[in-house]
Amino acid sequence: MQPVPPSDSSSPATWIELWSLREDILLEEQPDDDSVVLRSQWGDLHIPRPGAVLTEALRRMQLGPVQLENVPGTEELAARVRLLTALRQLGGLVVRSIGAPDGEQPLLSVVPTATGVRLDPVLVPEDRLLRLSRFAALRSTGRVSLLESPLSPFRAAFTRPEAGWLIASLGRPITLERAVERLPIARPTAVALLSHLVATGMVEVAEQVAQPHDATFPEDHDPALLPWSHDDLRFHWSSRPGPHDRQFGATYPLRGRQDQPPVLKPAPAGPRISLPRPDPGKPDWDTSLAEALDRRRSVRSHGEQGMTLHQLGELLHRSLRVRSTGDPLSADVLPQASSRPYPSGGACYELEFYLTAGRCEGLEPGVYYYEPLGHELIRLPSDERLGTALLSEAQTGTGMAAPPDLLLTMTARFARVSWKYSGLAYALTLKHVGVVQQTLYLMTTGMGLAGCALGTGNTSLSAEAFGLDWRTESAVGEFVLGSLPAGDETR
Ligand SMILES: Cc1cc2nc3c(=O)[nH]c(=O)nc-3n(C[C@H](O)[C@H](O)[C@H](O)COP(=O)(O)O)c2cc1C
Repeated sequence: MQPVPPSDSSSPATWIELWSLREDILLEEQPDDDSVVLRSQWGDLHIPRPGAVLTEALRRMQLGPVQLENVPGTEELAARVRLLTALRQLGGLVVRSIGAPDGEQPLLSVVPTATGVRLDPVLVPEDRLLRLSRFAALRSTGRVSLLESPLSPFRAAFTRPEAGWLIASLGRPITLERAVERLPIARPTAVALLSHLVATGMVEVAEQVAQPHDATFPEDHDPALLPWSHDDLRFHWSSRPGPHDRQFGATYPLRGRQDQPPVLKPAPAGPRISLPRPDPGKPDWDTSLAEALDRRRSVRSHGEQGMTLHQLGELLHRSLRVRSTGDPLSADVLPQASSRPYPSGGACYELEFYLTAGRCEGLEPGVYYYEPLGHELIRLPSDERLGTALLSEAQTGTGMAAPPDLLLTMTARFARVSWKYSGLAYALTLKHVGVVQQTLYLMTTGMGLAGCALGTGNTSLSAEAFGLDWRTESAVGEFVLGSLPAGDETR
């Protein structure tokens, strides 16, 4: 597509082109060797012998959006062209904005989120339909509205409503003409906004001249994108370093604002049942790890005799107990840590375990919290119907012929992880669920019990049954447990 033409100088401008540096960029002038350095999260960019015009432009652009015509030394066209060429080489460091002639806040700013990308506004074809990408999301940071997409190396930011009106009209295919006639935005301004949005990739252009119901867009048949839902792609994108500029890793985003929840959850009140502890070194079964791995499978039926409290105690003790506390990995930031049989990223150990018992020899049916340090079950004052509903939901999820004997629900105290990590926190929790599920699979196989992971637990039901606010601590995974049916070869 063609570059967008500069605004028509014969009629009063309805928008102006503005340039600035990303907010995180530091400009350092180095008179000794006549260079400037632009420091950013992507490293340092040295510009040798920038010249007075580029240096002044960068100084101003660091302070906010500027019109290049206002930079001293750009009176001649040749100087402006040289400056434009130099700025285009700065790629991901430069923010392009569409300013309003009233000089107030820009109508829209396009911020690069990856190094080496350059926004080239495009001519919006008048006869084609336009549509917002289904992967684009409009959100507020509390101070500014952002349009972003995992597929775009830019985000569009605005604080005034005009761009928001236009974006809102693109939820379904619409022509430039139709969009403009419905909005109180001058046509050239709308064209400029759209030419920038199309260039970010967050607004798509129809592949052919067509009516709205016939139009197809590149995303509609891209085999790489069809399998992705909006939410899954966004989660994947944000949960790993990559094509975005978000905070990532152990950045301690909540330090100083909120305490990290304690390493051990304060135990809920209720009658306690001390669980049997196995001999740490000597199981009364002798499946080797190689055998357990070889034989492991999901078992979706339970034996005539329920599993025993002794077996339950052994399973929970060997898999999920707290082995010790107070052995911090890094004492400065984790005042308390714990050691457990299964690993946990950053030693966060945010998972908690709740047991819904239908049938277990020596244990009353009901809903329990597993206290992993004392190795006890605490009976929760949960309505009997909720326990039954949890087991029935697990039956549906596994397709079992009868409700399972036991359901172990894993919840996560999210803030244990998100207090420390930006970006990867929730992804880490889901990985922890898998770690625990595999630990339980190996243990149940080794012990000759029936086990099956479950991926379909209901957030509201478990929160009600365990008396939790799901925003603080929610179910994130389940495991169905019971005795092995007679004659089952897993044994
Ligand atoms: C994370 C995870 C979630 C699962 N969710 C379910 C489930 O909701 N229902 C079910 O019947 N099996 C579930 N399973 C078990 C798989 O269906 C099973 O592992 C797979 O079919 C392979 O069979 P196998 O485990 O017997 O080797 C899940 C397994 C994992 C690891």
